[in-house]
Amino acid sequence: MSSINIALLGFGTVGKGVFETIETHQERIQYYLGKPVKIVAVLVKNITKHHLSDSEVLLTDNFEDVMQIPNLDIVIDAICGKEPGFTYIKRSIEKGCHVVTANKEMFAFHGQELLSLAAKQHVSVGFEATVAGGIPIIQTLRSLLKVNRITKVEGIINGTSNYILTNMREQDLPFEQVLADAQNKGYAEANPTNDIEGFDALYKALVLSQVVFGEHPEEENIIRKGISQITQEQIENAANLGLKFKHVVKLEKQENHIQCKVQPVLLSNAHPFYSIEGVQNAVSINADIVGNITLTGPGAGKLPTASAVIEDLLHLFEKHDSVRLHDERQLEDQGEEVGQRLI
Ligand code: HSE
Repeated sequence: MSSINIALLGFGTVGKGVFETIETHQERIQYYLGKPVKIVAVLVKNITKHHLSDSEVLLTDNFEDVMQIPNLDIVIDAICGKEPGFTYIKRSIEKGCHVVTANKEMFAFHGQELLSLAAKQHVSVGFEATVAGGIPIIQTLRSLLKVNRITKVEGIINGTSNYILTNMREQDLPFEQVLADAQNKGYAEANPTNDIEGFDALYKALVLSQVVFGEHPEEENIIRKGISQITQEQIENAANLGLKFKHVVKLEKQENHIQCKVQPVLLSNAHPFYSIEGVQNAVSINADIVGNITLTGPGAGKLPTASAVIEDLLHLFEKHDSVRLHDERQLEDQGEEVGQRLI
């Protein structure tokens, strides 16, 4: 049986999570796609630092090697930063590959261009993993937008900042120690400045703005502040008043523009984000028909992000290949009749 061949770009926390999940969930993925899914190549920065037990998988530090692979179906982008990510993904689409990306910075600035290019090439680009880790926020927004007009989106969408603020307050630990802990756990970016100064949350907000409003906010309507200046003393004083610091993103459509605020705010226990702790993320959506919806879940880390990538992988083939949309496996497990809702 032929397989669906995947190249994985990047083998850090997210790349390893995807690699392992494809191994551990091969049977289930195959069940949905109708074919085995095979990682045929892994692109790394430094080849001497990595080892793969399967000698059939090409381990390379040269992107051109990846582009030479015949019958390559999908490229999964688990690298950080605008470049070389953008160049690699553009090349992959031009080669006719579907793409799944977790690279928020690259996608925030080049997402629209890549989606237009992909449409011309009749391939798809999945980007669920760019925002809020394991929370299916992109799917949810797209589904809501079919009938709703969304006016406002707020969120805690940087897990590292929330983890730091939570542990500084609960454990009374200094900023640097909790940041090091977040890095060890694989939550923080390679460059943690992106997390603690609000850049990572801003990139995610830009992706959300593009999905919800079809455009980015103008630069003069963006406020970006991080959490690096918040002291233990301020956190303690706030706690004595029953308040918590939270790093919150707010995207709002105003009459003539989109307002985007990314900053730490003080919240009381009346706010739904007050109880969002640790690496958890939350996104609250205001829409004209449904009203307010708040989604919460793990916002960073190996497996939650891998879950978002694999969900995209399964969705890729909805328009291009046969795929079973309904969760037949659950029906089967429950002993009910299988195959009622195939497309
Ligand atoms: N560094 C990011 C965060 C990873 O802490 O939210 C997930 O995008």
